[in-house]
Amino acid sequence: MQTAHTVDVLRKQISDLRRDGSTIGLVPTMGALHEGHLTLIRRAREVCDHVAVSIFVNPTQFGPNEDLDAYPRQMEADAAMLEAEGCAVLWAPDVEAMYPQGFASTISVTGVSEDLCGASRPGHFDGVATVVCKLFHQVQPDMAFFGEKDFQQLAVIRAMARDLDLTQPHVHSIIGVPTVREADGLAMSSRNRYLSAADRTAAATLPRAMKAAIARFEGGEMAAPALADFESELLSAGFASVDYAVLADSASLTPLSALGDESARLIVAARIGGTRLIDNMAVTPPVRG
Ligand code: PAF
Repeated sequence: MQTAHTVDVLRKQISDLRRDGSTIGLVPTMGALHEGHLTLIRRAREVCDHVAVSIFVNPTQFGPNEDLDAYPRQMEADAAMLEAEGCAVLWAPDVEAMYPQGFASTISVTGVSEDLCGASRPGHFDGVATVVCKLFHQVQPDMAFFGEKDFQQLAVIRAMARDLDLTQPHVHSIIGVPTVREADGLAMSSRNRYLSAADRTAAATLPRAMKAAIARFEGGEMAAPALADFESELLSAGFASVDYAVLADSASLTPLSALGDESARLIVAARIGGTRLIDNMAVTPPVRG
């Protein structure tokens, strides 16, 4: 595996890999790699000749009171995992390489970025869209792979790629990969390591309560009472708050009052201890006819 810390070195490595017509898959990450990231990399390896992984803890997507400084960083351990997975390139810029002195541009995707996490994390999706746009230009992959766990992020990136014509030629397709879960159902996340033992046990209530709410949506109930019970269950289990819990249209992310014929998703964010957990699950519309 080759490692690049500057755009020039990265471009040379990528163009060498492409010389024989090989395809490149990009897996953007902020490091602290876990099985969820490795699943993205394995998916990329199945469909692309070479995989490039970026590790960059992107300061512009963290708010002033968020966990930028505390965010786990373990470059050596991550690099060893990537090597073992057969990655071709590790793109590991520092902040100066990504945002040189005088950097003054921001990409803002309106609409799909504004509610849910966008409402409680102002500027977060601008930071994500800007850095992902830069990563697409830097690596120019054939495909890029993102976890469905960050469902709104995936929607924002797809909208940006469509609006800015990035899907051709820079990225032919953006692939969403299903969430990888722990044995008790908790979605894997680099932030799970912040949980105390007691909070980690209680956190398993989140996926369980989501499934219970989904069964009620799929049974034809209105969303509001099922969501109210979902929230009560989390608070009783020791969660500090539920930032949001929404039955939403999977494409536009607009809230639905009940499941209709459209593909829908239960999307939630809740806090336990000092940690904010997000999750989402598909809700299957009834088969009519
Ligand atoms: O999902 C993440 O880890 C980050 O938001 C991403 C896509 C790497 C951009 O910094």
